[in-house]
Amino acid sequence: MRISLEQAIVRLKQGEVVAIPTETVYGLAADATNDSALKKIFEIKQRPADHPLIVHIGDINQAENWVTCFPETARKLVERYWPGPLTIVLPAKEHVSRVVRGGESTVALRVPNHPVTLALLQQSALSLAAPSANLFTQLSPTTVEHVEKGLGDVIPVLDGGACQVGIESTIVNVTASGQWQVLRPGVISEAEIAEVLNQLSPHQLKLGQNQKVQKVPATVGELAPRVPGQHALHYSPRTPLLLFKERDALIQCSKALTEAHLTYATLLIGEGLQPQGKVISLPNQPDKVAAQLYDALHRLDALKLDRLLVALPPAQAEWVAVNDRLSRAGTIEQVQA
Ligand code: TXA
Ligand code: MG
Repeated sequence: MRISLEQAIVRLKQGEVVAIPTETVYGLAADATNDSALKKIFEIKQRPADHPLIVHIGDINQAENWVTCFPETARKLVERYWPGPLTIVLPAKEHVSRVVRGGESTVALRVPNHPVTLALLQQSALSLAAPSANLFTQLSPTTVEHVEKGLGDVIPVLDGGACQVGIESTIVNVTASGQWQVLRPGVISEAEIAEVLNQLSPHQLKLGQNQKVQKVPATVGELAPRVPGQHALHYSPRTPLLLFKERDALIQCSKALTEAHLTYATLLIGEGLQPQGKVISLPNQPDKVAAQLYDALHRLDALKLDRLLVALPPAQAEWVAVNDRLSRAGTIEQVQA
């Protein structure tokens, strides 16, 4: 059910949920200070209560209302990337709802970069908790149609067109002492963040590169914050999805499926051999693939075939976020010797 900005403000103030556009994916939003409204998000999504929500705020200055400290590391990052696809996890103030925090002592904040939702946040003066507007573990929505298909037409949706970034924000945990760690990869890469901070990334440090660093960021394991809500199988279509590192193996599998009288469709990235049947081909560019990934998977899933085959991009840094989402959407097929 599509609604106007004014209707969205009224509903959100009444403690109702509304699906809202962001530059990454559509979110299922509720007033982040209203526990009964927040509980509706968990019910509709069928999401476990210990999976915390991201609080969307209208501008940088509002961050102080939510966190006990705002270390220089966090400040540099938000000044560079907000509004934008970056979520910062920081120690939460006492008053921040336990429902939003999923029981954690921290809270996740982001200023989204979408004109409709920025107008909504500014005009309503609300802060909106919003996870992706899909059922728990299913494909994230990047269009109003995806939201309606996934959650049904009863959910009020604010139409903001197709999401431009296409995959969820990069989540960075920052400790009170300014140590940082990427909890979820996104289009803003770890290397880019390290550059903004003029530091080596945790990954580079692990590789043992020996440059001068101003402040040593935490390495994986040393800081080890819990990463609640990151499931092995997340972002999944209903059709079983098989992932292939080699194009040849994908082609072989497609032939075997045909022989077994099973139907399939394929998602390819870049040039190369093509199997028979329905194929969606995406260009060999990480940002473009991110922008179209969920829509392509939604479209292939809607065909209701027996299998979806996906050719994985190379295991290189620029593809980390796309590979993360794909690996959570399906299972990697081992090449048979
Ligand atoms: O791009 C996005 O981030 C989208 C749009 C709607 O903003 N939102 C989104 O929300 O992806 P969701 O709920 O699907 O993912 C939120 C994730 C949680 O699953 C968890 O991994 C992490 O954010 N998170 C939230 N609060 C956290 C906290 N206090 N500590 C650690 N991780 C947290
Ligand atoms: Mg999600």
